[in-house]
Amino acid sequence: MKRTVEDHAARFSEKAAEYDDSKSEEYYACADLVVEHADPGPDDVVLDLGAGTGAIALAVASDAERVLARDISEGMMAEGRRKAEERGIDNVEFAYGEFRDPEIGDNADGRVDVVTSNFALHHLADAEKREAIRVMAETGARRVVLGDVALFEGPDPEEPFYSPDVDDPATVGTLVEAFTAEGFAVTAVERVHDQVAVIVAERGAAIAG
Ligand SMILES: C[S@@+](CC[C@H](N)C(=O)[O-])C[C@H]1O[C@@H](n2cnc3c(N)ncnc32)[C@H](O)[C@@H]1O
Repeated sequence: MKRTVEDHAARFSEKAAEYDDSKSEEYYACADLVVEHADPGPDDVVLDLGAGTGAIALAVASDAERVLARDISEGMMAEGRRKAEERGIDNVEFAYGEFRDPEIGDNADGRVDVVTSNFALHHLADAEKREAIRVMAETGARRVVLGDVALFEGPDPEEPFYSPDVDDPATVGTLVEAFTAEGFAVTAVERVHDQVAVIVAERGAAIAG
């Protein structure tokens, strides 16, 4: 991680009020695919990591039993809670949680069926991403849907998808290997852009061909 958790939290809290106003076409395409692949059922608990202002958490809420939205930035979560209230959504819980410890507690009896994460894991170094994927596996979720800045080709600092001083995207191959190392089958890899991927990892499913 190029910045500490505290630095990232402060950085996001500072821009939380404007965060939703400055998104790229690829970000929306990625978020839509994460929501589509997450596809929770009415009895499912979804854990959304790096939930921010709730792009994914609020979008899947009407299909799920409950959504545990976890983030390190109180400012981003305050925006998320405000949006939930505005939209009359009452089954999303925003609370502090890090990738390495999402602090699920005994919420929904500690059950997690689907894990989602969009545009957040790239803040961690590759070893920390592997640890985060191990933590996702340990929740017992049957499906993980990860949308993120991830490199299909070599890095291109000219592109707007990440700032090398704060972001640390992995290659798609590194992420796929991390999921398979935790016993998941990777059932889909969507190429949103050369530097933006959606990866779907499932337990007991056929591997993507
Ligand atoms: C670019 S925003 C994405 C927010 C949201 N998922 C979306 O799609 O709009 C990245 C989020 O990741 C959070 N974040 C950064 N590092 C984190 C960590 N170690 N654990 C949990 N969340 C983290 C930030 O606070 C921020 O809200």
